[in-house]
Amino acid sequence: MKSLSTPYNSAHHKFAVFTACSTFVLIIAGALVTSNDAGLSVPDWPTSFGSIYKIPHLVGGVKFEHTHRMIAQFVGLLTIIIAIWTWRTERRRWMKYLGIAALGTVIAQGILGGLTVLFYLPPPISSAHAALAQTFFCIAVCIALFTGPRWVEEVPRVEADAGKPSLITLTLLSIFVLYVQLIVGAMFRHHGMSWWPHVVNAPMVAVVLTWTSIRALFLYSRIEAIRRPAVIMLALLIAQLCLGFLAFVTRVAWGHDAVQPELPMVISTVAHVAVGALLLATAVVLAIQVWRHVPIAFEESIPVRSRDPVTA
Ligand code: HEM
Ligand code: HEM
Repeated sequence: MKSLSTPYNSAHHKFAVFTACSTFVLIIAGALVTSNDAGLSVPDWPTSFGSIYKIPHLVGGVKFEHTHRMIAQFVGLLTIIIAIWTWRTERRRWMKYLGIAALGTVIAQGILGGLTVLFYLPPPISSAHAALAQTFFCIAVCIALFTGPRWVEEVPRVEADAGKPSLITLTLLSIFVLYVQLIVGAMFRHHGMSWWPHVVNAPMVAVVLTWTSIRALFLYSRIEAIRRPAVIMLALLIAQLCLGFLAFVTRVAWGHDAVQPELPMVISTVAHVAVGALLLATAVVLAIQVWRHVPIAFEESIPVRSRDPVTA
């Protein structure tokens, strides 16, 4: 078995979990930059006010923008370490490439962050930076999952899925609608699009995610690796719909004529971005666990007669 061929490495796994948690903090720090309108408070890049290492006075928007850059550098360093560590110790070849993919993504993300500053926050670049941030978070969560004791040591309990559409299709559809929601949300947040595509797509996200979680819970609640992300996904969805409503009220309805970002708007929008990231990562984990535990029952579609010679 592929997953049994590598021994569990506790330090490697703990480091991967720490990297994923630090990335979540970084996403909050980035969202604080956008919500506080602080994107251009530090006008240069890769330097900050002309220096690579000096910490500027952390006042006004600089507090958010420079702190975000420092946490990003820290996460970049963690990613370099995890890529090298994975490359040197992992026996699963695809894990080595996942480490390299994480490193490539964090570098691209840093470059996008720099470009958006140099080009004065164009909506497509800022939105790409927002979307790639969550993609990187998902990769970091996956590395933590794949190095975990359950993944490495347990023999998975497998049950064939004969449902139509299959549960794996539903989980992939969930990831797809969440990406659409993320992209239109980011385009709106960065002033590149109206709010309505995001709000109109929200019921679609709600339906697909509810369908997926309910199907998973209804059929496979015995499998903990599926039950847990399915429950979390449903809970996060409800929280996200409430936060979306609050973000809309504080940003679009009340915040329309605000001279500067107001606290209720900052809190609700930052929480909405953060829960959005958790929701996407949970959908990815659920898809992976479904792929591992409930593969599609292909043999169900084979006519009984054609199986006779084999079973005979
Ligand atoms: C690991 C790397 C990084 C991650 C994961 C990350 C993540 C994020 C996130 C989640 C946001 C908020 C997006 C939103 O709320 O819509 C953001 C905003 C921002 N980030 Fe980063 N970031 C990273 C590196 C950088 C770097 C190196 C810079 C360098 C200048 C940078 C500059 C910015 C700026 C200027 C914004 C505000 C954009 C705007 O308001 O339009 N980021 N980042
Ligand atoms: C169904 C689940 C939803 C998900 C997964 C979701 C996700 C997101 C994400 C990820 C962003 C920010 C993108 C970025 O990083 O820049 C965002 C922005 C936003 N969303 Fe949602 N959203 C959902 C539902 C809603 C609903 C129902 C509403 C309103 C009724 C809403 C209102 C907003 C608003 C107003 C913003 C922009 C905030 C700002 O301008 O600062 N969202 N959404």
